[in-house]
This record gives sequence, structure tokens and C-alpha cells, in this order.
Amino acid sequence: MEVTAHDILLIGGGGAGLRAAIAIAEADPRLNLAVVSKVYPMRSHTVSAEGGAAAVIAANDTIDEHAYDTISGSDWLADQDAVEIFVNNVTHEMLRLEHWGCPWSREPDGRIAVRPFGGMKKERTWFAADKTGFHMLHSLFQTSLKYGEIKRYDETFATRLLVDDGVVGGVVAIELATGKIRAIMAKAVILCTGGCGRVFPFTTNANICTGDGMALAFRAGAPLKDMEMVQYHPTGLPQTGILITEATRGEGGWLVNKDGYRYLQDYDLGKPTPTPVFRSMELGPRDRLSQAFVKEMEKGRTLKGPYGDYVHLDLRHLGEKKIDEKLPMVRELCRNYANIDPVHQMIPVRPVVHYMMGGISTDSSGATPLKGLYAAGEAACVSMNGANRLGSNSLGELLVFGARAGTSAAQYASGARRPSDRLLAQAADEERRIEREYLNRNSGRERIAKLREEMQHAMESACGIYRTRQTLEEGAAKLAELKQRFGGITLDDHSRTFNTQLMAALELSGMLEVAESMVHAALWREESRGAHQRTDFPKRDDQKFLAHSIAHRNAEGPPRIESLPVTITRWPPGERVYGR
Ligand code: FUM
Repeated sequence: MEVTAHDILLIGGGGAGLRAAIAIAEADPRLNLAVVSKVYPMRSHTVSAEGGAAAVIAANDTIDEHAYDTISGSDWLADQDAVEIFVNNVTHEMLRLEHWGCPWSREPDGRIAVRPFGGMKKERTWFAADKTGFHMLHSLFQTSLKYGEIKRYDETFATRLLVDDGVVGGVVAIELATGKIRAIMAKAVILCTGGCGRVFPFTTNANICTGDGMALAFRAGAPLKDMEMVQYHPTGLPQTGILITEATRGEGGWLVNKDGYRYLQDYDLGKPTPTPVFRSMELGPRDRLSQAFVKEMEKGRTLKGPYGDYVHLDLRHLGEKKIDEKLPMVRELCRNYANIDPVHQMIPVRPVVHYMMGGISTDSSGATPLKGLYAAGEAACVSMNGANRLGSNSLGELLVFGARAGTSAAQYASGARRPSDRLLAQAADEERRIEREYLNRNSGRERIAKLREEMQHAMESACGIYRTRQTLEEGAAKLAELKQRFGGITLDDHSRTFNTQLMAALELSGMLEVAESMVHAALWREESRGAHQRTDFPKRDDQKFLAHSIAHRNAEGPPRIESLPVTITRWPPGERVYGR
């Protein structure tokens, strides 16, 4: 087996990974670092972020207001120390990105343009038209190229973290083009692999968002935090799940039911106004808007289509000029994927799985409980999003906490010993396991695609916008069955060259574990908070559940869930009020 060694390894080449890489190169140029990415970095899912990134810049806004909006939006499950770090650093990060070439949209007088976003009561979302993620990722990628010392392993899939005596020392990874299995040793590893929307059948997430980093960490003994908190974005295109950005509503778009009625006024989200009013109606938070859709459907006031119920997003009153200037990609997506032109027609939309508030449990420097292991971005839970993330907070999060994870990993690696040679035996075991369980296997009967589809549908039924003990217990039983059946999978492709079937199998095995942690954390949380709505426990219960769920892997059965108190600094729990 080929063995290479670096000081620090980044798993994931999206926004968080590249920001961390730049921070490391700046902190100590002598450190030898490498990025392992399942895809070419510019194809990471950050590229598809649309609407913008929040940071205080306007004269009438304050850092404390950004903090309060984030904390109340999280239904008080966010750790307030993490939120304070975020709001205090994000503007600086966004300006750095500007210096690295990110073309933020501007006001005619040259100031940074900001737009309203859901749950934020001031205009603080910076944007680059509606292609914000593309421009941010491009700026980070180009900047990372300045540093010759960043070695890249593109199209390489990490299958296992190497851990000796509680200390992480690298990964085993497969080079997809050749099937070559490598041991890549490192004193510190940072997981920046994004979310796991593909655990569900209907999602805005790219096919690559399979929670690989969460599964790697979980299997190595690092816990997952708040995995029950799954964000539905209120506006995805039916059938494909393609995101229709919240910026459409920030720019003044309306959500209407089958009668053309702006139904959100019936859900304590404010009264209709011709132009956007902060914190009300279409600019309410995502959890409340997605829940309102379900209620509207139960009342029979949604439209019926071949891909389920939907409502309409009406942009026609914005006019062609504004749509072309501020929302050009929305027009392009609607034309190409729904065969409609939003300048003249309403857009069919429905809630769609978009983001995981939960992830690998880290402290505010990105460190996990496993020595030498760090995480940042959507793969991690630091936690600043709690039970409901506000739209446009995640791009800033990956900058602030990507940089912090990079800096702290650099500090750790500068003083750490080189990984133990004992890890090479573990790496050899992993190579044999991949050959035995996947490549050389002929006897199984279970199909990967079928198991994946069953998992996705089980997750939608168990862990959707509303949950109950019964749906969750059924989901847990189904996942246990699927894990057992996974032992009987078959692969048709036994070759080494671009074996995408092997990759799909490895992804699925991780997703089954990640899905289990979600269902069991949701069973544990017997209350309703933010995106976690239990119809059998409809109220928030701060006495018992002002706490994070912490899922620990249990090789013999379902994960063990523990609780960890939420950090409150300055904002005691209160009522979440919108639109009054
Ligand atoms: O709607 C959007 O543009 C999504 C933004 C986000 O998830 O932060």
C-alpha cells in the first residue's frame, strides 16, 4: 500500500475545507498540508449556495442584533458563546473574501449591497446576485492555489480514520480513478465534508452530500450532536428538489396557496404588505414556513401535482429587470428545470430537506473529543444554529469556524508527534476489509440502490417536518433491518477504475449509521423545538431539553444518546415572536 504523510489533512475541499487550508498556510507556512476531496474542489456543494451570507455592515445594524436573531431563530438551542464568536468575526471574514476576489453585489454608490433574509430583522445578507456560493468558493479556491504547500488528492474518498490510543493519525482513502488504496498519515485531520441531505429522498443537496465525515468521525468514536435537527427549506422545485433561493422572498416574492391567497398571514407570521417587512410573512424563519405548508396541505389549500402537493411562489410583480439583475439563476433554473418563466408565471414550490443543524460535536475551536480530530462547516455542530438555522448564516459559519479549526489544528500539529507506525497495520486491515466486503464479493443479493431508496423513504416518514414516537420507532426498526440487509449487498463492478458502485456502497454504509443517529436523537427529544416538531410532545420543554443531544456509536445496536447543557451567555430563553 502506498503511504504518504503530511502534518495536517483536510477531508473535504468545499468552503470550510479551503478556508481552513488557507488559515493553516497563513499560520505556519512550514506545515505540510493536504486536501482530500471526493470531487474536484470547485464541484463541492458550497458552489450551489445561492442567496447570500449574513454579516453586520449597515449603519443601522448591530452585532448584538445579529446574535439575538440567530439565538431566537435557533429556538435557544444554539450555544451562545459560539454565536458570539460568529457574529464578532464574520464581517471581517467577508471583507477578507472581498480582498481575495469575491465580487459582492454593490449599491450604486459603491457600498456592499445587503438584502433581507428569513428570521433576520435587519438587512445584513451580502450576495453576489444569486450565485453567492459559486463566487465564494471560486475566491477561496483561487486563493488556496497561491500556497504551493497545499497538496491535493482530488476525487479521493476517505474510508476510515486511523486512530491509535485515542489520537487520530490519518486516513485510509481510495483514489477513484485507479482504485488505489492509500494510507495518508497526518498529525491532525479536519473533517469538512458537508451535510447529509441525501439520507432523505427529496433534498436540495447534491448527490455528494452523504454525510461521509459524520460517519468517519462517529465510527472512530467521536460523538454527533443535535442530529434530530433537520432543516426543510420552504421553497424547492417539486420533482428535482432544486433550491429556489430565499432571496426571492427577500426581494419581495410572495407565497400563495391554490386560491392565490398569501396564507402565511394565518400562521402568526404577520400581515400582507406590498414590500418585504422583516420577520414577517415570507421572511419568517424556515422551520415556521415549512410547518405552515404542512398545515395548509392538511386544510386542502395546496395544489396537487405529479410530485406531491405544492404552493406557488409569485415573483411576477418584481418585474423582469429586477429578476434579471438580482435573481438571474432563479430564472435560469425555472426555465431549464420547470419549463416556466418566473417573469410571467408563478413557480411551483414545496418544502425540501436542505441543511443539517447537527453534526460532529466540536468546541468553538473546531476540536472534537478525539485528539487530533477537528471539524468545521455543515459536517460539524459547534453549535451556532441550534434547532433552526437562519438562512445565510451557514456561509459565514464555514468561514469563521473553518478558519478557527485551521488555526487550532496548526497549533496542535506544530507540537504533535508524528503518527505511530502501528497505524499502518490498521490501514492494511482497512484495505483487506474493502476487498473482502466489497470488491471480491460475489454472493450477496441486495441491491445498493434499493436499500438506499428504502432508507430515504423511511427517513422521510420517520423524521420529516412532524414526528411522533410511532413514526420514529418504525424508522428505527427499518434502519436496523436495512443495516442487517446491507451485509448481503452485491456489486456488479469489481474493477478498480472509477468504481462508482463501490463508492455508492461505502456512502450508503455511512448514511445508515448517520440516519440511525438522527432517528434515535429525535426519539430522545420529547418536546417540540425549532425544526424538531413532535406532535406527541407539542410544547418546548426548557426544564428537560434546554440541552443538546449527543449520540455515541454503539457497535452492538442503536446509538446511545446523552444530553449536554446549552451554553447561555446573555440571552435567557424567551418566546420566538415573528410578525406581530
Ligand atoms: O435560500 C437560500 O439561498 C439558501 C441559503 C442558505 O441556506 O443559507
